[in-house]
Amino acid sequence: MWKKLFNSSQEKSEIKKELSILESLDPAKLPRHVAIIMDGNGRWAQGQGMVRTAGHAAGEKTLREIVRTASRLHIEALTVYAFSTENWKRPHTEVDFLMKLFSEALAKEIGEMDKENVRIGFIGRISELSPKLQEEFAKAVERTKNNTGVKFNLAINYGGQDEIVRAMQKMAIKVQAGELSPQDITPEMVDDELDTAGLPPVDLVIRTSGDIRVSNFLLWQAAYAEYYFTETNWPDFTPEEFGEALAEFASRERRFGGLKK
Ligand code: IPE
Ligand code: IPE
Ligand code: MG
Repeated sequence: MWKKLFNSSQEKSEIKKELSILESLDPAKLPRHVAIIMDGNGRWAQGQGMVRTAGHAAGEKTLREIVRTASRLHIEALTVYAFSTENWKRPHTEVDFLMKLFSEALAKEIGEMDKENVRIGFIGRISELSPKLQEEFAKAVERTKNNTGVKFNLAINYGGQDEIVRAMQKMAIKVQAGELSPQDITPEMVDDELDTAGLPPVDLVIRTSGDIRVSNFLLWQAAYAEYYFTETNWPDFTPEEFGEALAEFASRERRFGGLKK
């Protein structure tokens, strides 16, 4: 069934390998919301004698392919970790490089993403980024807001704990104003105060590059997510391996605290 999604013969040959895995996936067993911790750019670059930042540039190309694949598989939402609230601890030169890369990559890719019907969003403390970047992000959101394809969210200056604290602050203000009673607070209300409001819960978290940890990503939203860890560094991650992660997800039994069916 996936063959129908790919048009030109050139496109078909480019993605032949990708297809063999992707076409074997059962659309009914795909996750609605996939989150990716795109890790290992620095190690990838250093492994080939390059500076760490070369790995970030290479990682951008991987991201483009994965967004395209998610879009064609009709995955509802894809959220990727691009810069954490902890990543400010890195050298200025690396932080500056990343901020510039976000701006340049967005300018370069926005047209293609718009054509692919991708709806772009940003999560995290965006208001602390440079005014220029904020403006570019706002324009991308505005340009793609009516697109009906994959909801693609970039987590930038994002931390799960920070996001929960901000949600609590918003609720505390409502309590203080007499609009909300503490005992009436529900998990759904918390959902609605998070940056991911309106998105389905995260079904699958993929982390590349071998570290088995969450690093403060989507702590609330991934409460019942399945995890897929791979040794592959992010610049080497391919649509085929994305397909493998999706196949692995399809094979897991999710019980949500209940019993085996
Ligand atoms: C992930 O790659 C990208 C960001 C955190 C911005 P890293 O830069 O963390 O690469 P490693 O983990 O040091 O190899
Ligand atoms: C997580 O990777 C953040 C992003 C991928 C943006 P890190 O490389 O920052 O995580 P730690 O430091 O290994 O936990
Ligand atoms: Mg890392």
